Amino acid sequence: MSLLKRHVIFETNSILLTIGILFVVAIGGLIEIVPLYYLKSTIEEVEGMRPYTPLELAGRDIYLREGCYVCHSQMIRTMRDEVERYGHYSLAAESMYDHPFQWGSKRSGPDLARVGGKYSDDWHVEHLINPRSVVPASIMPGYPHLAQRELETNALKANLNANRIVGVPYTDAQIENTIVDLRAQTNPDDDNVDAFMERYPGALVRSFDGDTDRVTEMEALVAYLQMLGTLVDFSLYDDKANLR
Ligand code: HEC
Repeated sequence: MSLLKRHVIFETNSILLTIGILFVVAIGGLIEIVPLYYLKSTIEEVEGMRPYTPLELAGRDIYLREGCYVCHSQMIRTMRDEVERYGHYSLAAESMYDHPFQWGSKRSGPDLARVGGKYSDDWHVEHLINPRSVVPASIMPGYPHLAQRELETNALKANLNANRIVGVPYTDAQIENTIVDLRAQTNPDDDNVDAFMERYPGALVRSFDGDTDRVTEMEALVAYLQMLGTLVDFSLYDDKANLR
């Protein structure tokens, strides 16, 4: 009874009640948030993840510039229907070099987290120029200008550097060779292909738009799409995540 009476102090004084509520809520908040500062990492690392090549990074920027994320997500949820349609559900580590991440929640088109290798380069080029030429009922807009525009590379080195500042582990050699690596990735006959492959193990080297004379925005975007979801070898993880 006396406890109830003391409660009257709070119930008759709104300022005290507000302070009391803040105090109680803060305890809950602290218990949830403080441990995060003491964890070494909230993302479990997985084998195969590497920073994006200069060409892929440039393609990713075009993906952002053109607003592809407005219709496409890049996160496969753990639900069975998603896994059966798109493949292994996305891991946090797969977006660890994305600034900003492209998870998204709006899907007017399919999820693209594992679109890499699903279609040929030619298919992507055709589809991006005019989606209806390969998918007759598509509502996706065409992006024919990408095939005409040469890729702007002036800021690319600074772009890699900026990514390093926010935590992507680009090495000095990778940043120094930004343009060299960009050319090497688009031309298998280039002298620097071996050095490029050493800097970015497993990267795809080819002309992604069939035009070896110049690097177009289309080429960068297709290189980015063809890499999506291919970095981690999920046969190594299937036992643990026996969803497949
Ligand atoms: C207005 C919404 C919209 C926008 C914006 C959009 N798309 Fe799409 N996209 C779709 C739809 C719908 C489909 C499914 C039909 C089709 O394949 O064309 C699709 C399909 C795709 C596919 C094939 C996926 C698969 O698994 O079959 C790719 C790749 C793709 N889009 C890439 C892009 C890129 C890159 C951009 C930005 C340059 C983009 N989309 C912008 C709606 C959109």
